[in-house]
Amino acid sequence: MTKLWGGRFTKPTNKLVEEYTASIGFDQKLALQDIKGSLAHVSMLGECGILSFDEVKTITNGLHTIEKKIVNGEAEFNVSDEDIHMNIERMLIEEIGPVGGKLHTGRSRNDQVATDMHLYMKEKTEVFIQQVEDVQTALMKQAEQHVETIIPGYTHLQRAQPISFAHHLLAYFWMFERDKQRLEDSLKRINWSPLGAAALAGTPYPINRKMTSDALGFDQPYPNSLDAVSDRDFILEFLSISSILITHISRLSEELILWSSQEFDFIELDDAFCTGSSIMPQKKNPDVPELLRGKTGRIYGNLMGLLTLLKGLPLAYNKDMQEDKEGMFDTSETLDGALSLLAPMIETMEVKSENTREAVNQDYSNATDIADYLAIKGLPFRQAHEIIGRIVLYAIQQNKYLLDLSLEEYQDFSPLFEKDIYKKLAPDQVVAARNSEGGTGFEQVQNQLKLAKQTLG
Ligand code: ARG
Repeated sequence: MTKLWGGRFTKPTNKLVEEYTASIGFDQKLALQDIKGSLAHVSMLGECGILSFDEVKTITNGLHTIEKKIVNGEAEFNVSDEDIHMNIERMLIEEIGPVGGKLHTGRSRNDQVATDMHLYMKEKTEVFIQQVEDVQTALMKQAEQHVETIIPGYTHLQRAQPISFAHHLLAYFWMFERDKQRLEDSLKRINWSPLGAAALAGTPYPINRKMTSDALGFDQPYPNSLDAVSDRDFILEFLSISSILITHISRLSEELILWSSQEFDFIELDDAFCTGSSIMPQKKNPDVPELLRGKTGRIYGNLMGLLTLLKGLPLAYNKDMQEDKEGMFDTSETLDGALSLLAPMIETMEVKSENTREAVNQDYSNATDIADYLAIKGLPFRQAHEIIGRIVLYAIQQNKYLLDLSLEEYQDFSPLFEKDIYKKLAPDQVVAARNSEGGTGFEQVQNQLKLAKQTLG
């Protein structure tokens, strides 16, 4: 097959080169965006008097026919046509004849591919924003049910202080809120239109870039044609945002895995989200959160890949940039899968509140509260800390928890202890007492829930 750019050449392309340089294997995912961009471009060419309205009509109809074929899976893409842009142009010419060759007036594949990717990222980002919100909603629904469910809070994965389970879930709610804000903010930069930058320098045709920018739903054309075709920041930004987002997903997944272990036994994931073992009949494996945690690797990898690709690239377009797509698609598809599983998995998980409470009853996580008790009675906190340290050691040696010690035993350590110490040590009281703004005290958690709800709107 002759090339659309064959005029300058005297020899056919080496077969291996053809295959090596082709991107059609993956950039066909941009087919519909490519058509959308072409439709806006050709209509603008008509409005600006660059093509006749008959030509515009013929090309527009031709593009719609090809669009249908693509949607119905009837389009045939060829490696010899290299990429999605030239495949579609070839099909157009086959469909409507040589007038199809007028579509590429005043544009280049360089602004074309950038436009396609902007359109792709715009559509996906809008979907991701919604999906992150679904995860937030699932977290909030669980949180509403578990304000008074008490679990051990950890630092260093050692029991630290008891907290409300809702408080723990809402911590993730706010992480996802920031992710959502980052996605929303990135739309400002995704929404610049490269179309009309042409190869790198603009075009002598009297085109109207604002017209195509508006038609495609962008906010404005890039002010600089060189920047327009060279910029891949918007993809880098998406890959960075995704890396942070998958980090949050991975941390949450890790906790779900830990919590569903026999050792913790704090939650049970719904059967629909777990799988069994081919050899050990008793097993119910948390494969989904494990995979979510594992997917982090490729998402970080795609970010590193593109950063490395762009570093040191001179302006403007270089063929290296064709390598920008697979990571973008991969991250986008990986994220889509992760977010759509995460929401229902959280929503359906069962929280074993008796177990979490039992866990809190069997630890020393109320020790800080005894220290505070003495401190409030006037003892410097450092001294109080020292005394309680000795009480904890004593209790461990006696095989007792802090609530099991008698008042006499307490008073042996300090005469400041009175009967009311027991009230202070009860887990509910320990949680409720942390009523400082943003703390785990039940009242604060209720305020936080209200705020979370408002945030979701
Ligand atoms: N397939 C190419 C890519 O994805 C399209 C742009 C090609 N432009 C060029 N001058 N070779 O990067």
